Amino acid sequence: MREGRAYVAVLNGRIVAVAALVLIGKSAYLQGLRVRPELRGRGVGETTTRFLLEEARRRGAVVATLLVAEWNTPSHALVKKVGFKPRMYIYGGKPARRGESKCLSSLEAYEAVSEALGRSRGYACLPDEPWVCTAVTPWELLARGRPCIDKSLYIGRFSFGSAIGDPDIDVTSLSLDGYRERYTTYILYAIELQEKF
Ligand SMILES: CC(C)(COP(=O)(O)OP(=O)(O)OC[C@H]1O[C@@H](n2cnc3c(N)ncnc32)[C@H](O)[C@@H]1OP(=O)(O)O)[C@@H](O)C(=O)NCCC(=O)NCCS
Repeated sequence: MREGRAYVAVLNGRIVAVAALVLIGKSAYLQGLRVRPELRGRGVGETTTRFLLEEARRRGAVVATLLVAEWNTPSHALVKKVGFKPRMYIYGGKPARRGESKCLSSLEAYEAVSEALGRSRGYACLPDEPWVCTAVTPWELLARGRPCIDKSLYIGRFSFGSAIGDPDIDVTSLSLDGYRERYTTYILYAIELQEKF
């Protein structure tokens, strides 16, 4: 709430759901939707998600994304119902090793990140907020971290390949390799918010 990204849904004067909305350039990331357990199955989650999409559109986003844990059947059904499409798998957890890296700068860095984003169809998690995964430009990533090459390219706490980084701190990645402790698999969903880009 302090960062201006939390929303609450209020019904009859009572908070019935919480959720967050992060805007990164023209992309919106929906995070942490929680409906009060005793009020689930009555449309609160769907209404809150649709509200956040409208809010994202109003604030200038053209695409919205979110992550759903593989096992979370209710959430998969909800996000598909409102129009999200699955795009890719994201893995997260504690990496096994730090890596012996060659870090890149300026033009080399820009080209490597552009090339990696081309392979991921433009999606990545943020170097400094690895649980925020959305459609980004090379500049948005480069403003938040310096790309390095180990077995694959990584930037801050996100890797385009295997997990790499401080073994005590969470990272996310596009490959399931390289974890000391890996959490569940996540599916990245996306939805277009405007008819024309
Ligand atoms: C997932 C969650 C947000 C759904 O909220 P909700 O208010 O119960 O959902 P709604 O009543 O708005 O349901 C909307 C749609 O979601 C799907 N859905 C909701 N609950 C479901 C369930 N238990 N099983 C299968 N589908 C379900 C259905 O498609 C439903 O549409 P329908 O009623 O036409 O069938 C809620 O269960 C929750 O807070 N879960 C715990 C936290 C969590 O997992 N958050 C999501 C993290 S990505």
